[in-house]
Amino acid sequence: MPRARAPSAAARSTCAPAARPACTASASTTSTSTTSTASTPPSPSRTRSIGELKKLVEEGKVKYIGLSEASPDTIRRAHAVHPISAVQMEWSLWARDIEPEIVPLCRELGIGIVPYSPIARGFFGGRGVTQQVSAESSLKGHPRFSAENLEKNKQLYLKMEELAKKHQCSPAQLALSWVLHQGDDVVPIPGTTKIKNLDSNIDSLKVRLTEDDLKEISNEIREEDVAGGRQYTSFAKFTWNYADTPKK
Ligand SMILES: NC(=O)c1ccc[n+]([C@@H]2O[C@H](COP(=O)([O-])OP(=O)(O)OC[C@H]3O[C@@H](n4cnc5c(N)ncnc54)[C@H](OP(=O)(O)O)[C@@H]3O)[C@@H](O)[C@H]2O)c1
Repeated sequence: MPRARAPSAAARSTCAPAARPACTASASTTSTSTTSTASTPPSPSRTRSIGELKKLVEEGKVKYIGLSEASPDTIRRAHAVHPISAVQMEWSLWARDIEPEIVPLCRELGIGIVPYSPIARGFFGGRGVTQQVSAESSLKGHPRFSAENLEKNKQLYLKMEELAKKHQCSPAQLALSWVLHQGDDVVPIPGTTKIKNLDSNIDSLKVRLTEDDLKEISNEIREEDVAGGRQYTSFAKFTWNYADTPKK
């Protein structure tokens, strides 16, 4: 399956002026990426930030520019200043709010989509159902992983297990495959601490789903049936729905 080119040095934009010294310092090395997050307040104007990143591209210090948790208006304004290579957003069977507006916008503008948390932060790998969430895990503070909501969400995992049996793969592989089948411009970034799971995630490329399979999976696992918000409560006000940057 051909894949969109993921940004090898995607620089997120909100901290671009602050990132300049770091980029300048690293200019003689192979790494030119910045690691600032798009949602760290206070947020300067996106246009100004992208303008700064554009200068870094022109100076050869940054190769591609990407955004994360950006609203449609922000994506448009940023892209008008310098082409945005990719947008990193949460996208999985239980996080589908980017589908109505952001996905079509990225396609209109030719921007790659990098879904983060494609395995639903481990939920479709059994986290919270077949495996305990450790007491130290930050997931303890995620609304969808609270004891009360997990009890309800467990039903979705059980459905996913059934669907996975049908496709002769694991639930995590099916979740990942569903994201991979959303388009050739979609490059999910599953996270794992285990080589076994890394290999299993690579093997999800072998799972073939038809249009009917995708419809069946989407109809069985519906975001409306998920208990709890998709984001940590403390982070919710910085998600794309609320994180529009100032115009100037
Ligand atoms: N831009 C943003 O705002 C943002 C926000 C969140 C995350 N991210 C990025 O997105 C990437 C992934 O996100 P994520 O780690 O939150 O979510 P994820 O990929 O949906 O889930 C990761 C979890 O799934 C488990 N897992 C992975 N493969 C598995 C498999 N084959 N079978 C069973 N369990 C499996 C992992 O546990 P094990 O370690 O035990 O395998 C881990 O707990 C990371 O690079 C992260 O930095 C970006």
